[in-house]
Amino acid sequence: MRAWQLEDFGLDNLRLAERPTPKPGPGEILVKVSAVSLNFRDKAIVDGVYNPEKMPKNLIPVNDAAGVVAEVGPEVTEWQVGDRVMSHLYSHWLDGAPARDEPDWQLGGPIDGGLAEYMILEANSAVPTPANLTDEQAATLPIAALTAWFSLVEYGNLKPGQSVLVQGTGGVSLFAIQMAGALGARVIATSSSDEKLQKAAALGATDLVNYRTTPDWAEKVRELTDGQGVDQVIEVVGGDNLNQSVHATRAAGHISLVGFLGGMTAPLDVLSLLYSQAAIRGIAVGHRRAFLDMNAWIEKNGLDPVIDTVYAFDDAIKAYEHLARGAFGKIVIRVAD
Ligand SMILES: NC(=O)c1ccc[n+]([C@@H]2O[C@H](COP(=O)([O-])OP(=O)(O)OC[C@H]3O[C@@H](n4cnc5c(N)ncnc54)[C@H](OP(=O)(O)O)[C@@H]3O)[C@@H](O)[C@H]2O)c1
Repeated sequence: MRAWQLEDFGLDNLRLAERPTPKPGPGEILVKVSAVSLNFRDKAIVDGVYNPEKMPKNLIPVNDAAGVVAEVGPEVTEWQVGDRVMSHLYSHWLDGAPARDEPDWQLGGPIDGGLAEYMILEANSAVPTPANLTDEQAATLPIAALTAWFSLVEYGNLKPGQSVLVQGTGGVSLFAIQMAGALGARVIATSSSDEKLQKAAALGATDLVNYRTTPDWAEKVRELTDGQGVDQVIEVVGGDNLNQSVHATRAAGHISLVGFLGGMTAPLDVLSLLYSQAAIRGIAVGHRRAFLDMNAWIEKNGLDPVIDTVYAFDDAIKAYEHLARGAFGKIVIRVAD
């Protein structure tokens, strides 16, 4: 099969190679990949800043994949050839509390991922594709959409009429805007760009704040919410941003700590957090059961994932370069027609 493999860190070392098509072992399925989508972590893995010590040589990168079952291994009863299927990042985290070693079982690094004509999935970890999405759309779900769902619904227990602050217009945030809006929440969106804010409004954001022209955006969020703050925050920035998020959250509200776009450490103002009694919850995408719940919701309510550009398989490097430049919506790579 043709596969992109990371021969060393750095985008120059991501190379297209011929490899033997893997054979599914007991409890495994072989998937013919139709499409994959890129996430921030895919760039971080290529750059060698995301658990570099765990990445094997010649890793096939990228978790988020959608395709069709091409072969089932021994003892597999839940899948048949031709079934539509998606990958699940934390491939051993099926439900309940996570185990300490879940990161060791992430697809797309350290375990081979989907940027290849075929990939192996564990049968009990693979997820059926929602019938109302194409494979290109479905390939956007496994990380960004599940992270938004897990934050808002699984841990956040979002109810209609509650308020949510969504930061920036990255992949996770756009899904959070769409889902929170469809779930009946008031959605306050921030962005560095007024043009992107208008697009966020079209996706379901009800209040718009430009964090570049309004650097004290947390105070603005307080103003918009009668001085109280929002019920939930999707925090994608980290660093000092976390203190503003605490300020923007209502007393005893909920902050989902999702991202580290602005820094991997955060100088937390302890007294502010203590007085606000907000809960800060670390988010690691989500488990498979929540993925199934989200897909059932998508099949019932519809969801139109925002896709910026679809690249051809041979243009994977261009797709990574586009991710690094920034996009509005997901970057998808079509692997098979
Ligand atoms: N914990 C998890 O499970 C999990 C899962 C997925 C992603 N993540 C992490 O979450 C973060 C976001 O991921 P993503 O895939 O959505 O990234 P992305 O698509 O690359 O997000 C880029 C966007 O983030 C916004 N942004 C950047 N700096 C900002 C700031 N200071 N304030 C507000 N917004 C800012 C910008 O929005 P504007 O252009 O509108 O300003 C930018 O376009 C990353 O750190 C990623 O690693 C974590």
